[in-house]
Amino acid sequence: MSTKSSNSNLHRAAKVKNDEFYTRLVDIEKELKHYKDQFRGKVVYCNCDDPFESNFFKYFAGNFNALGLKRLIATSYKPSPIANTELVLQSSLLPGYEDKVVQKPSKPKGRPKVTANKFIINEVSDIDGDGAFDLRDIAEQLKANKNNEWAPLELEGDFRSEESIELLKQADIVVTNPPFSLFREYVKQLVEHKKKFLIIGSDNARKYQDIFKLVQENKLWPGYSRVNEFMQPDGTVKKFGNVGWFTNLDVSKRHELLTLYKKYSPDEFPKYDNYDAIEVSKVSDIPVDYKGVMGVPITFLDKYNPEQFEILGMSDNRDPNYEYRTKLYTQEDSPQYNDLNRGTVLKIKGELKSTYTRLLIKAKK
Ligand SMILES: C[S@@+](CC[C@H](N)C(=O)[O-])C[C@H]1O[C@@H](n2cnc3c(N)ncnc32)[C@H](O)[C@@H]1O
Repeated sequence: MSTKSSNSNLHRAAKVKNDEFYTRLVDIEKELKHYKDQFRGKVVYCNCDDPFESNFFKYFAGNFNALGLKRLIATSYKPSPIANTELVLQSSLLPGYEDKVVQKPSKPKGRPKVTANKFIINEVSDIDGDGAFDLRDIAEQLKANKNNEWAPLELEGDFRSEESIELLKQADIVVTNPPFSLFREYVKQLVEHKKKFLIIGSDNARKYQDIFKLVQENKLWPGYSRVNEFMQPDGTVKKFGNVGWFTNLDVSKRHELLTLYKKYSPDEFPKYDNYDAIEVSKVSDIPVDYKGVMGVPITFLDKYNPEQFEILGMSDNRDPNYEYRTKLYTQEDSPQYNDLNRGTVLKIKGELKSTYTRLLIKAKK
């Protein structure tokens, strides 16, 4: 094998590995409790979710009647590397239990799944479990109900496949943790099909051009909670500090005014050297009386109320084709920005320094 192809194989393997983070039930419950009213009478689609493996499926099946769902659809993905390892996720509903992955060794690993499946739930009569039931039990019980449909997919269960898109069209709300490596494509498809969604993704995505555009146009925003731990196919836990929820469902904090108490002073809030805005390095320090443009950390999005502020752009301009790039002074304007023209620049004690990426915002009214 040439070095080039082995490298690209490694890259692909790493990418796949990075897609295999399984969400804990406790994290799903923590976020979903905020949206209960918005699910009544709705068709929910989990399109990266094998019913035997996914706590999203478990959550919606278990709460089908309480949420008043019309239908739950889940599709699995054939090439999933955890096929046939059968994760058993202990219920966090049972006191003393934490989500744990127990891999049953009875089946050989790495065997491709025979097929991808769709599972369409129209009715959930009592699920016979005391809290310690596992996903397989639930799936088996639901399969036995003649109003529910369990059928193989013709294709591989790729969310972009025609078959999955047909199911997407039937859905009102899509809820899942999609593969991180396909996040942009995944969101694009949801937006194209005008779907409501609640999905997990990395904070880094906030900076992606197409995602930021949606943020700026008030078509996507952060949910309530953070997701700090995931389960991996080998049974270990993977911790993250930069993962949370993205949604276009209503989130109450977007209607709350951010309480501001600081007054503007030129000493405390210096102007950038390459852009007509002031640097506000902490969201809680946004001056209440400043009418011009302010550069704030990206975490501002977690407090953003579109009635209170507008977002004009972002200071990171690594990509020269970045449509939403803020027009900062460039090298041609001044050679000293040669290495610094990637974002907002401050002169600190006579020295020019780039700030972290800043959102450029302005108070409304
Ligand atoms: C981050 S994992 C999350 C799994 C599950 N949704 C959860 O939250 O526990 C992403 C899942 O999407 C599957 N997947 C990867 N590429 C996919 C694609 N193109 N279409 C559908 N599913 C895909 C992976 O096999 C993996 O099971």
